[in-house]
Amino acid sequence: MKKGFEQSTFSDSKTILNTKTKPKVKNVLELKNLHAEVEGEGIEILKGVNLKVNKGEIHAIMGPNGSGKSTLAKVIAGHPEYEVTGGDIIYKGESILEMDPDERAHAGVFLAFQYPVEVPGVTNTTLLRESYNTIAASRGREELDPLEFDDYIREKLDLVEMNPDFLERSVNTGFSGGEKKRNEIFQMAVLQPTLSLLDETDSGLDIDALRIVSEGINKLHGEEDAVVLITHYQRLLNYIVPDHVHVMLGGKIVKSGGKELAFELEEKGYDWLESLAKVNGEAK
Ligand SMILES: Nc1ncnc2c1ncn2[C@@H]1O[C@H](COP(=O)(O)OP(=O)(O)OP(=O)(O)O)[C@@H](O)[C@H]1O
Ligand SMILES: [Mg+2]
Repeated sequence: MKKGFEQSTFSDSKTILNTKTKPKVKNVLELKNLHAEVEGEGIEILKGVNLKVNKGEIHAIMGPNGSGKSTLAKVIAGHPEYEVTGGDIIYKGESILEMDPDERAHAGVFLAFQYPVEVPGVTNTTLLRESYNTIAASRGREELDPLEFDDYIREKLDLVEMNPDFLERSVNTGFSGGEKKRNEIFQMAVLQPTLSLLDETDSGLDIDALRIVSEGINKLHGEEDAVVLITHYQRLLNYIVPDHVHVMLGGKIVKSGGKELAFELEEKGYDWLESLAKVNGEAK
């Protein structure tokens, strides 16, 4: 197992005195010319993605269907379906390419899926407590017993205005589309990740749920973490204002800008960027 995510060990008093001045890793995530293909099939999907995400930032990734957005999120989280064939994924200053998905999750990488999976027979609370405790151990937090955990999650439930009954239901089983999405943000609230990869959190949410989920994300997001939002709609970005917007096309980020870029995309679509993708692109 790779070590190196615990930034300070507090092993002596000097370290404690120096914590305020010690150099901090500002970069949460850096993708360097990242290439990835479908494992064993030789189909290249990510064709050289470059991206820097600092602490305290929210990045939105937009782009047409099939451009590689979900694949990018999954590759960062270490999904076994994909193989990194070039470049690097640097998380908090270290390459995580050799870490398996669990290790990445323990280190604070959280992926909320575009299509959340159902886990029949395992209640939400059980899954969350297990995840919380595994992560707690590797991030220097106290593990919580079922009663303590119950107290802890009640306050998180309020954040996404989720009905407590959901805690005892099997994970995502029979949840409506919107409930699954809300549940993801609830998971994010409980696990307190450093890097949240949210894939189409807005899809299928009614207007009230969109507001609640967005407010939840805003409350959870702080100076010490970063959020990467994948979305098709500028609408979400009215609620969660991104620091940077990126357009993915043909497996690469072909344009980046501020939040105004999202409006431009809404107005003009993606066609005008095709030529950029070709200029920047490599021969297939
Ligand atoms: N396991 C796989 N096997 C074959 N092709 C795949 C696999 N995973 C992804 N792809 C292909 O890679 C491309 C990018 O897919 P991806 O899901 O990342 O797109 P996306 O940008 O998230 O699209 P959408 O906006 O529709 O969600 C698509 O053409 C998809 O069919
Ligand atoms: Mg997708």
